[in-house]
Amino acid sequence: MCAISQLPFDHLWPDSAEIRDHRLVIAGCDIGRLAAQHGTPLTVFDEATIVNAIAAYKNGLGAYSAERSIHYAAKALLNTAIAQLMLREGIGIDVVSLNELALVRHAGVDLARVHFHGNATPSAELAQAMAWGVGCLIIDNLSQLTSVIALSHRLQQPQAVMLRVAPDVVAGGHAHIQTGHKASKFGMPPDAIGSAIDQLNAAPGLQLIGLHAHIGSQIRDSEPLVAMVDCLLDIAHSEHDRVGWQIQELCVGGGLAVPTSATEQPVSIAAYCDRLVSKVAEACAQRRLTLPRLSIEPGRSLVARAGVAVYTVTGSKPRADAPDFLHVDGGMGDNIRPSLYNTSYEALRVDSADVPAVSNYAVAGRYCESADVLIKSVALPPTRPGDLLAVPAAGAYTLSMASNYNGIGRPAVLLLRNGVAHLIQRRETAIDLALPGQLHSICQIGFSPCRYCPSQPSIV
Ligand code: LLP
Repeated sequence: MCAISQLPFDHLWPDSAEIRDHRLVIAGCDIGRLAAQHGTPLTVFDEATIVNAIAAYKNGLGAYSAERSIHYAAKALLNTAIAQLMLREGIGIDVVSLNELALVRHAGVDLARVHFHGNATPSAELAQAMAWGVGCLIIDNLSQLTSVIALSHRLQQPQAVMLRVAPDVVAGGHAHIQTGHKASKFGMPPDAIGSAIDQLNAAPGLQLIGLHAHIGSQIRDSEPLVAMVDCLLDIAHSEHDRVGWQIQELCVGGGLAVPTSATEQPVSIAAYCDRLVSKVAEACAQRRLTLPRLSIEPGRSLVARAGVAVYTVTGSKPRADAPDFLHVDGGMGDNIRPSLYNTSYEALRVDSADVPAVSNYAVAGRYCESADVLIKSVALPPTRPGDLLAVPAAGAYTLSMASNYNGIGRPAVLLLRNGVAHLIQRRETAIDLALPGQLHSICQIGFSPCRYCPSQPSIV
């Protein structure tokens, strides 16, 4: 008989997480054993948590009486397995670069179901995306519109587009992730949309299907959402009156908050969808607009809670006036969020998950920067070098924003399903870091031979 106990800060863990015999288990996989097998830092994802979040969005939007679609915002986390999971679950994807588009194309995603974003996308990337038949280009600004019109003349093929509006709504958990206000680099002010529509009307290859806004991330309340919908539908209404343009799609972006610390409350996907669906229906009725297709682009709320980062404690440092440091083998290279947004995370001892905490520690990363402190204070049982720490709610904007600072490879990534761990991204090694970008190019310009090109002459 194994002893099962309650996880602390229960709302931060994947749906399938549990403690068995004092050890952290996710999707039936013993996390300590996976760390021994794959090394640390390691990030594990519970597939069921992602699937359940998608189902919650599908159910919630089910109440909308016209068409609706979900596009996963791949910037939160992207690799081939995740793209294929979204494909299997029948949702579209939102990408921001040609490399992301190439990855999802390679994964087998139908590009007709992809939104392509970006405020400063190079024209060559836009051209390739259009040539590949990307479903919809979200045009961010008037100068990008000029480029897209020129490309459309050159390519001579139809392309659906939406216009991104900055509705002058302030929302988002940190100034860095607010995108809907007037001063934002993203989107066009409402009074620029008329001119954009006139230019699109004169560009027969481009079909303006709708309006888009993404006002920020880590949003907890519904007022900004309501204000954004009113703004977009006011534009749709006045453009209908002015030039007879009919909005076919309304895309409200993503942004739903996910807690990372014990004191933050969870935000309900069902409640968000309820509010969105009723607001759009009511706002369209008030303006006598036909209900457009309603699309959303959730990123964090599909993957954040599914992901758990696992680190090994490599050492410690006592401090007189603050919690002692535990040093770990990862840090800002695999999770920049504490240093960039002051985000708080929690941690648990992987093999003593239900042992009562006795003291507070700070968890410091291994990177050469004082800001590299993953957790300022967390209560743990006595913890020593060699112990493993698991950090929950670490699945979004961690690996996708990872760096190779200090020449450290990005972690291995596992997808856990029914007691089986699938390696979906292997740990980067010295060769991954050095060969493609550096050693080989130095070798090619003749500074020194690299061991991969023994015939290259050396001048040093
Ligand atoms: N749609 C668009 C156009 C976006 O720019 C974003 C996120 C999303 C959807 C998805 O938003 P989500 O549901 O994930 O909040 N690095 C920051 C987050 C930046 C979000 C950028 N755009 C962080 O770590 O908090």
